[in-house]
Amino acid sequence: MDTAATGPLPDAALDQLFRNARTHNGFNPDPIPDTALRAIYELVKWAPTTANSQPLRVLFIKSRAAKERLRAALSSGNRDKTMAAPATAILAYDLEFFEKLPRTFAHNQEARSWFAGQPALIETTALRNSSIQGGYFIMAARALGYDCGPMSGFDNAKVDAEFFPDRRIKSNFLCNLGHGDWSKVMPRNERLTFDETCEIL
Ligand SMILES: Cc1cc2nc3c(=O)[nH]c(=O)nc-3n(C[C@H](O)[C@H](O)[C@H](O)COP(=O)(O)O)c2cc1C
Repeated sequence: MDTAATGPLPDAALDQLFRNARTHNGFNPDPIPDTALRAIYELVKWAPTTANSQPLRVLFIKSRAAKERLRAALSSGNRDKTMAAPATAILAYDLEFFEKLPRTFAHNQEARSWFAGQPALIETTALRNSSIQGGYFIMAARALGYDCGPMSGFDNAKVDAEFFPDRRIKSNFLCNLGHGDWSKVMPRNERLTFDETCEIL
């Protein structure tokens, strides 16, 4: 069935995804079910990436033991809120993403060869696409009624050594997840205007 977009989402949905959504520093302590983490990924996977390369890999840190393994890598400003969050996603990228292209870009069996043996292109493509997939991740979580606290304030090398020792997967950024505690939200900061940032030729 053809299910192309038929028009804008209702204002309430746009508020939930963008205008009223905030970056959260504290969360209701209730656990986040594994089914919710799966549901977020089940939306993320459909969003576009270069040659459908899907380099994003997500490690959900939920258990107390796993959180303790993360602790030493966190910046001091991010430590307490991350240790207390119901879940923390490590959004990472797979430097061997191209090995799956014969399956995920099946109509062009040449695609793997565009990347194999090209470390700079692999890194750029993996970082670019895992970052946009990370953005999709935030929006998917919001769409499903969860709040996010994305963070780059951590030691990537420490996270990689602890969680990805085979060096094939690299951390990009972290994202705390749960139902936000609105008393811990910072004042909303100004956004740049269309005229400052965009140009139409
Ligand atoms: C990739 C990324 C990294 C961020 N790193 C941190 C961080 O390390 N610590 C932190 O407290 N906030 C971090 N933030 C949160 C931003 O400061 C916040 O999203 C921005 O100020 C907008 O806030 P608002 O969504 O509440 O309007 C990060 C956000 C993103 C998207």
